[in-house]
Amino acid sequence: MKRLLVTGSGGQIGSELVPYLRGIYGAEKVLATDLREIPGPVSEGGPFALLDVRDGRAFSELIGSFRADAVIHLAGVLSAKGEKQVSLAWDINVNGSVTALEAAREQGSAFFLPSSIAAFGPSTPRVGTPQETIQRPTTIYGVAKVTLELLCDYYHRKFGMDTRGLRFPGLVSHEAPPGGGTTDYAVHIYHEAVERGSYSCFLAAGTFLDMMYMPDALEAVVRLMEADPSRLVHRNAFNISAMSFDPEGIAASIRKEMPSFTMDYDVDPLRQSIAESWPDSLDCTAAREEWGFAPRYDLDAMTKEMLARISAKRSRAV
Ligand code: SER
Repeated sequence: MKRLLVTGSGGQIGSELVPYLRGIYGAEKVLATDLREIPGPVSEGGPFALLDVRDGRAFSELIGSFRADAVIHLAGVLSAKGEKQVSLAWDINVNGSVTALEAAREQGSAFFLPSSIAAFGPSTPRVGTPQETIQRPTTIYGVAKVTLELLCDYYHRKFGMDTRGLRFPGLVSHEAPPGGGTTDYAVHIYHEAVERGSYSCFLAAGTFLDMMYMPDALEAVVRLMEADPSRLVHRNAFNISAMSFDPEGIAASIRKEMPSFTMDYDVDPLRQSIAESWPDSLDCTAAREEWGFAPRYDLDAMTKEMLARISAKRSRAV
């Protein structure tokens, strides 16, 4: 990759991926786009343009005028919000991605698509979830992700397009607050720990989910996109995960740093049922073997850094 266009730059991943990519490829080489103006480093640290990913003509023109050789397509509506706005989720997540794929194909650009643990469902093997397995998701977000995984494979086979993608687990980060996801509790808990010393959890004890700290996710995107294509057997939808824990596990990790931290439960039935339909722990062998996936953060290392970063931000703000 030499010149990149990123969609959904103001979201949880984009707000950290854009500065990370600019650090590697050069600030002027990464065009950040979003549906709305994004204050801060994403729009101030390099080129920025407004883009509705459903507008195919604008999309294609922007790729062409920027001479982007890769599109990192992050724009999307997350799982819990999608259940409340089904047609919006379909429109942005599927129609927007088809538009993005077509625009990238027209301009001869490579294409990155983030899939998710949400591409699995209740009939998927829950523990050690294989790379290739049953995918019958029960959320609109998951149905869209399966559609897009298949479409990216199709565009590669049919048109020879360089499509690549990852199935992200829940991503934990301190930069932008996530919006409308099910795994978000693992972000909120750190903020609440710093601000109030306690957290009321919307998922139940015993709900295990795959997770990853954002720096490992950013590195994974670049490693995959820069991988030698002759080594890629799968290309799209690689299982990746760095850890698997339930609310009790993350609370115990926080208590190692803040012994007085307390947690109770106020379970949200919608997000609980979504979480119960997703795997507990993915098998990431294909990602390790085909492009050297190697996450660095485990739960305790992530906890230390999350608490330190959020506390530092808070003391700067007061
Ligand atoms: N983290 C996302 C969500 O919770 C899943 O990819 O919606």
